[in-house]
Amino acid sequence: CVISIQSDEKSDCAICALDLISASLRIYIIILNKYSTFLLNLQLHLAKIKKIYYNNKYRNIYERTYIMSRILVTGGTGFIGSHTCVELLKNNFEIVVMDNLSNSKRAAVDRIEKISGKKITFYKTDMCDYDGVTQIFKENSIDAVVHFAGLKAVGESVKMPLEYYTNNIHGTLVLLRVMRENGCKRIVFSSSATVYGMNNVAPYTEDMPTSATNPYGYTKVMIEQILKDCCVADAEMSVVALRYFNPIGAHKSGLIGEDPNGIPNNLVPYIAQVAAGKLEQLSVYGNDYDTPDGTGVRDYIHVEDLASGHVCAIDYAMKNKGFEAVNLGTGKGSSVLEVVAAYEKACGKPINKRIAPRRSGDIATCFADASKAKKLFGWEAKADIDEMCADSWNFTKLNPNGIN
Ligand code: NAD
Ligand code: UFG
Repeated sequence: CVISIQSDEKSDCAICALDLISASLRIYIIILNKYSTFLLNLQLHLAKIKKIYYNNKYRNIYERTYIMSRILVTGGTGFIGSHTCVELLKNNFEIVVMDNLSNSKRAAVDRIEKISGKKITFYKTDMCDYDGVTQIFKENSIDAVVHFAGLKAVGESVKMPLEYYTNNIHGTLVLLRVMRENGCKRIVFSSSATVYGMNNVAPYTEDMPTSATNPYGYTKVMIEQILKDCCVADAEMSVVALRYFNPIGAHKSGLIGEDPNGIPNNLVPYIAQVAAGKLEQLSVYGNDYDTPDGTGVRDYIHVEDLASGHVCAIDYAMKNKGFEAVNLGTGKGSSVLEVVAAYEKACGKPINKRIAPRRSGDIATCFADASKAKKLFGWEAKADIDEMCADSWNFTKLNPNGIN
């Protein structure tokens, strides 16, 4: 462990001394894994002392430097996973990425490394492969997991329910079993606003009943239930299920973004391909909904805001036990026509569109009550729809053939 001091401040020296003690504790954690919770708590106390010294000024830098936690990111080369990897690295977490590359490319690893200037450990492993996942835990001391890996296309899940239940649910069960066998008790899970089903009325709050209308949605509802049950069975377990609303946008560098296989199902990737000249026309699915302009309203959230929400969730999971479901959204809805207008502004040309019949299974309005994330994590989404569309277009322009 090397710590360099570039300051005349006495308080800096004191903090470095505490860092040194923390680093030593970390070595003990690796050696004495079974006492990790106790030692981690000790580290938390040291961090509190440092916080008093610094009067919260450098809280983010210091609180995370001392922990030096190693996070396993499943599905880390995918759209949301890759942005979260960048954000975790920025906040001094060490990361190990596991992905079977079924819906992403190996090149995403290079791009994460390019943006962050840091090397990451990557495993091309399927989460359903018990031996493969076990090997990752044996080769790395994992403090927590951020679990993105999963299949996510609603329409495809209706056609291939067995593949969806096997991949998403069996894969998560394998992961949880390996975590238990290796004493890893913290997990942040990618859930979805889809768990609010068709019967709740926006804004959605986390205490509303959950349900689903398709196999993909049921995998999210079921995995949340499995995670709750794990917390009941083991009081040391810490789970945060993040219910994402509609993630869009891309990293400001334009190096990573959404790179779907085939024809996109979701609105913004579809508009992006119309803007890029790859698809001819956007179908607006219905303009007779009970919304201000008749088109569907959704809570679009910038993927970078979403990524920072994961860092908050990991911090929270490090310090708390039990199950929490938390919405990650802006709390504001935008209609399809508003998104089209924002994209036209971003790319500087009109988006060819037509009004089409409603898409089966769609609801009129979906947006979050985002107050729990603010209360629990101090997190709020920052970007507006113009910024989201500008970053999406920047990525599309710079990567005409996706991430290759
Ligand atoms: P994505 O497809 O870009 O990323 C998922 C990653 O998981 C991919 O890289 C894929 O290769 C990998 N993967 C799938 N099955 C795997 C397996 N068995 N083993 C190892 N890796 C596997 O999707 P995303 O948009 O980044 O979504 C990430 C998570 O967030 C998913 O669980 C998704 O259901 C959830 N989510 C996404 C949205 C959205 O609109 N993008 C909304 C709500 C929730
Ligand atoms: N839409 C169109 N034309 C298109 C695509 C979409 O008009 O070509 C409309 C839809 O009718 C809807 C809105 O754009 O009103 C958003 O649709 P998306 O398909 O982009 O997003 P959804 O809200 O339907 O669903 C997405 C994910 C789900 C996830 C949900 C909440 O696909 O998996 O967000 O997070 F559960």
